Amino acid sequence: MEIFHEIKPLKAFLREKNKAGFVIGFAPTMGALHEGHLSLIQASKNAGCFTVCSIFVNPTQFNNPDDLKKYPRTLEADIAMLKAAGCDLLFAPGAAEIYPAKSVTTFEFGSLSNTMEGQFRPGHFSGVALVVSKLFHIVEPQHAFFGQKDWQQFTIIRQLVHDLNFNLTLHVVPTLRESDGLAMSSRNKRLTEQQRSKAIAFYKALMHCQFQLAAGKSMTSIQNEIKDTIEQDAELRLEYLYLADRENLSYLNHVEQPNKAVLCIAGFVGDVRLIDNILL
Ligand code: PAJ
Repeated sequence: MEIFHEIKPLKAFLREKNKAGFVIGFAPTMGALHEGHLSLIQASKNAGCFTVCSIFVNPTQFNNPDDLKKYPRTLEADIAMLKAAGCDLLFAPGAAEIYPAKSVTTFEFGSLSNTMEGQFRPGHFSGVALVVSKLFHIVEPQHAFFGQKDWQQFTIIRQLVHDLNFNLTLHVVPTLRESDGLAMSSRNKRLTEQQRSKAIAFYKALMHCQFQLAAGKSMTSIQNEIKDTIEQDAELRLEYLYLADRENLSYLNHVEQPNKAVLCIAGFVGDVRLIDNILL
C-alpha cells in the first residue's frame, strides 16, 4: 500500500495512475478504522477501482472541542487494517496540509442541514462539506464511497456533488453492525465495557419504533415513551428520534409509503455521542 502525507506528490502519483487507465475509488474517513470502514474499501475494490482511503480527523466539523480532543487516533493499527483489506493507497495528511491558513468558506444546505445532526451540531456539515470538497479536488476520484450509517451526511454530500458538478459517482454502503446490532463506530472505542452493553439501547429503540410504526402508531405518540425507556438509565440520554423522508429529510409522522423513509436516532452514553438509522 502506498502512503502519502502531502498533496503534491499524491496528485502527481494519482495523475500517472489515471493516465495508465486506472479508475480511482475513494473512501474518506477519520481513522480509528473498523469493519464498517473496511466495507467501503471492499465496495471500491469490488467496483474494480484503484482504491484510495484518506484518514484525517477534520477539526472544522467538530463543534465540541472535547469531542475532537478525545476522538480516537490509531494510525498504526489503521495502516495494518488497510493493508490487510487490500487498500491501494492511504492519504493521511496533517492539519497544516489541509488547512495551511484558516478557511473562511462556509456551506449551507437549507432543509437538509437544519434538522437532526445540523440542529444539534451547528456548523458540523459546513466543515464536512469543506473537507470533502478539498479531498475530492485532491484525489479526483471517479467513484466515492460513503456509509449509510451517516445517512444525513450522505444526502448532503449528494447535494454537494450535484451543486458543484463534481465529476464522480457516489455510492452508499449499508451499515455494518456488531453481532448484537450496535452500529460499528470509531466512537465505540471510547465506551467502557459497561457503557458498551448499554449502547445497544439506541438500536433497540429503532427496532421498537419500527414495530410501533408498522402497527399504525404515529411518531408523536411513540416518541415520549421511547425517550423515557432509554433515559431510565442515568447514563443514557436521547437527543433525537426522527422519522424523515429519505431523500429530502423532511419530517414524517407516519411511514406513508414503503422504501421512502429513514428513522434516525442520536444520543449519549456517558459523554460519548452515538448515531444510528434504519431505512424503512
Ligand atoms: P468517519 O466517521 O470515519 O466515517 C467514514 C465513512 O465510514 C463514512 O462514510 C461513514 O458513513 C462510514 N461508516 C462509519 N461507520 C460505518 C458502519 N458501521 N458501516 C458502514 N459504513 C460506516 O464520516 C466521516 O468519517 C467524516 O465526516 C468524513 C466524511 C471522513 C469527513 O471528514
